[in-house]
Formats: sequence, structure tokens, C-alpha cells
Amino acid sequence: MVSPPRPRRYLVSFDTRELPNVLADVCVIGSGVAGLRAALEAARTAEVLLVTKGPLGGGATLHAQGGIACAMGPDDSPELHAADTVNAGQGLTDPPVARLVAGEARERIEELLGWGARLDRAPDGSLALGREGGHSRARILHANGDATGAEVSRVLVSAVKALPAHRVRVLEKAYVVDLLTEGGRCLGVLADLGPAGGRQAIWAGATVLATGGAGRLYRETTNPAGATGDGLGIAHRAGAAARDLEFVQFHPTTLYVAGAPRALVTEAIRGYGAYLRDRTGRRFMPDVHPDAELAPRDVVSRAILARMRALGDVCVFVDLRHMPPEEVRARFPTVRDACATVGLDLARDLIPVRPTAHYAIGGLTCDLAGASTLPGLLVAGEVASTGLHGANRLGSNSLLEGMVFGRRAGAAAAAEATRAGGPRVGRVRAAGGGSPAAVDVADVQNSVRALLGRDIGIERDAEGLRRAAEQIAFWQGYVLPAEFPDPAGLTLQNMLTVAGGIVAGALAREETRGVHYRTDFPTRDDARFARHLEWPGLDG
Ligand code: FUM
Repeated sequence: MVSPPRPRRYLVSFDTRELPNVLADVCVIGSGVAGLRAALEAARTAEVLLVTKGPLGGGATLHAQGGIACAMGPDDSPELHAADTVNAGQGLTDPPVARLVAGEARERIEELLGWGARLDRAPDGSLALGREGGHSRARILHANGDATGAEVSRVLVSAVKALPAHRVRVLEKAYVVDLLTEGGRCLGVLADLGPAGGRQAIWAGATVLATGGAGRLYRETTNPAGATGDGLGIAHRAGAAARDLEFVQFHPTTLYVAGAPRALVTEAIRGYGAYLRDRTGRRFMPDVHPDAELAPRDVVSRAILARMRALGDVCVFVDLRHMPPEEVRARFPTVRDACATVGLDLARDLIPVRPTAHYAIGGLTCDLAGASTLPGLLVAGEVASTGLHGANRLGSNSLLEGMVFGRRAGAAAAAEATRAGGPRVGRVRAAGGGSPAAVDVADVQNSVRALLGRDIGIERDAEGLRRAAEQIAFWQGYVLPAEFPDPAGLTLQNMLTVAGGIVAGALAREETRGVHYRTDFPTRDDARFARHLEWPGLDG
């Protein structure tokens, strides 16, 4: 077995005395729902610098379709919502966290409406409520049919832009290379602004990491290009602990047509009444689970995989032909348009779908305020493991979690910055790695994605996982010691670091629980594994 090299503490060589030094009370990294909400909260009392890899508001939030879970109906309550969340989490959801998030949901929705969010309404003017798998009540709020994330993003971006420039400065297209630490405390970040801007040391009284997920470690994913696990990689090198990386949630229904983007075909479509059929026309979910197409996502994903294997197919089909066509097209415009790009009519055609990687359930360990195990570093959103999702995330719980924990992390960061007396300019120097190997970065990235899809996918076993661990360690052996000049190589280093964490967790968890399905350990083993598996950070 190849033993993986220890990653270097910093990926590039630098001396902060030789770089432009930028100061902020609070530095927020990431501009999805969690980062934007954190920035808005911190800006109430602190001066915030919001650093984002792409344009402001880009990222996975923009693509979220289904909606935001919130107990609103007369037959519903936050207690029921929390109970459904705990039930889905299969023993690893923290009940107080579920109660906190479900209990705060209405307040966060009111706040969004106050900022101008246009959520869809029923004919009587009340907020329209959709259904999704694992939710025992209709409680999914949505916007523009199936473009909820875009509406949330629009509203939060405009709220940020409406603040005076000195309260929130925004640095777009800035790649965070590493967290700067001294004496076991996070003091800010080293950012790369590309050829024109160069590198900068950003010193902050507190830093909030809200960089999203890691779906792009898989070849087939619903995630946008930026979801490469950078936040996990940089926090790991800085010493922050993470946990449960083996819990990678697959979304059962992603549009699967050669050449078309792997667009989500939202679960709300099944909540609305869509059937899943195989190539022979058979509706197979009723034989698998009493909730049929609305069974938990892991069950639906595995059932699809089984049908594909049985028939030697690469996809199954979403069928809405029994529903009113005009209503279908109006209710799901995002999916309708994605289908139309490849000549499919959502209302009249069978829509080819298959499961793809969707959500990193594990992440950086944090408390109820979003404080990670690294002093000075708060976390929120998909990069965090708050204890809400356990071993199986309920759909539409994560925009809500991003708002709840983004707000908490932002408030805690502002308080921390005040306690710390504002930013402290330290001095950090890092020695260089080896000269950049003549490595074809894109080729290794593609190989990582293919490997994870094959050996750390919906179903795993020891043989495939050991093979994956060896291969990842081999790639790490020549990629991690090198110093790459630009974000593509740095991203690859983060991908390989995080892939190592995922495979280690998946090997160690010798049981089946939630989205982690081990064919060689097909049952849940509470005696050994009713616990989180930690991925410790490197020693600072
Ligand atoms: O199916 C969906 O719209 C996905 C929702 C989610 O993952 O929360």
C-alpha cells in the first residue's frame, strides 16, 4: 500500500511582509447563501471583506431548485419538521440542532420576504407548499417554480450591495490559497487575485469559511464548476477538524443526455406527481418502498442503480405525461428549459435521468455558533458539519441551514473580531514546494473524478475503497509536494486532499447508514458506528 505524503502546511511559498496586506474585522469566504447571510449579519457591527472565487452570488445556491423547508401548513409544526430531519439522519443528526433550525425557519423566511424575496403563492395568497421525499408534510417553499436558489441569491446579493461600501467590501474572482495561522489561531487568508492582482495577505479579526461543497470530485454531479472542496482542503491544512466525509449524497434524478449539462431534475417534480420508469415502461418504485418515488433519496438512487444494472442501461426516466402539460411547463420552468436545450418536452417526453453526486453531508466540525475547532475560524453552509443532516440530508434543508448558520456564524465572527481587538497583522512565511511537475492538471482532475464515481459512489466495498485509497495516495505522491503557480493546480491539490479524507471515512465506516452503502457491510451497526468519524486537521 502506498503511504500518502503529508500535505504541506501552505501550498505556495510566500512571505506576508512582501505582499500587499489588507485588513478587515471579518473576512467571509464564499458568496452562496451561507456566506452572503454571514456577511450581512457581521456587517451590522463589523467591517466585512467578502472574498469569492467567482462572481458575487455564483456557486451552488444559484442552482438550487426545490426550495426551502419551513413548517407553515395548518397540519405542520417545527417539531414535526425537526422529527423528520432526525429520522432521515439515521442516528447521526443532533436533535437540538434539528430543533434549532426547524424552529428558526419562519423567522428566516420572514426576513427573506422583508428583503424582497418573491416566493410562490397559492391562489388564496398563502405561501405555496410543495412536497419532497422524507418530509411528512408539504413544507417546501419555492420561487419562480423551480428557481428558488436564484431568488434567494438575488435577494441576498442586493441586500449586500445596498450596504454602504465600507461595511462590506467585495473581492470577486479571488482564490483563497490558504488560511493564515499563528499560534494555533486563524488570522486571515492568503488570496490569489490572478495575474493582474497577484497575491494578498488578508488579516481579519475572525474568518468565516462558507465555500460550499465538493461535488466536482465526481465526474457526474449536479454541482457547478467551483465545488471542488477547496474550503475543506485549506481548513484541513490549517488544523481544523472535519467529520463524516464518507456521507456523499447522490441526487437520484439528474438530466442524463450526452452533451447536455447535468441539470438537476428537482425532487419537487416527484413531489408533484412524476413517476420513475425504466426503459420497458415499468414504474419500479412502488415495489421498492411504500413512499414509491418519494422514498428517501438514498433508497431512490439505489433503486435506479439496480434497474439500470438489471437492464444494462445508463439511465431511467422521469414521466410527467399523466399531468396537465401547461401546468407542468409553468411549474418547473428551469427543468423545462434544460430539457428543451436537447429537444425534450418535459410535459410530453420521457426524461432520461440518473443519480449523480449532489451534496457533501460531512464537513468541518462546528458548534451552534458555527465555531470550528480552529480558533478564529467560523464555518457555515455545505462546508460545515453542523449536525443537522446526520447520515442522510433531507431535501431543501440546506438553503435553510445556510441562512440559520450563516447568520449565527456572521454574528459570532463579529463578536470574535471585537474580542480580538480587530485584525492582527502577523508574519507568515512558507517555504516553497518542489518545482511544478510537468503534470497535466486537467488529466489528473478528470482521473480523480472518474475514480470517485467508480469506487466511492452510491455503493462501496472494501476492495474498491482500498483500490481507490492506493490510487489517490499514488497521485498525492507526486502532486502534493509540487508548487503550482495557479489555481488549477492548487485546486487539484485540494481535490486530492479531500478525496483522501472521503476514502478514509468510507473505509473506516464498516456499516451501511444513510447515504453510505457498503455492500460488504449491508446493515447499520449502532454498536460500533452510532458516532461521527473525525478527519483530524493537520497540526498547525
Ligand atoms: O431536488 C431538489 O430540488 C434538490 C433539493 C436539495 O437538494 O435540497
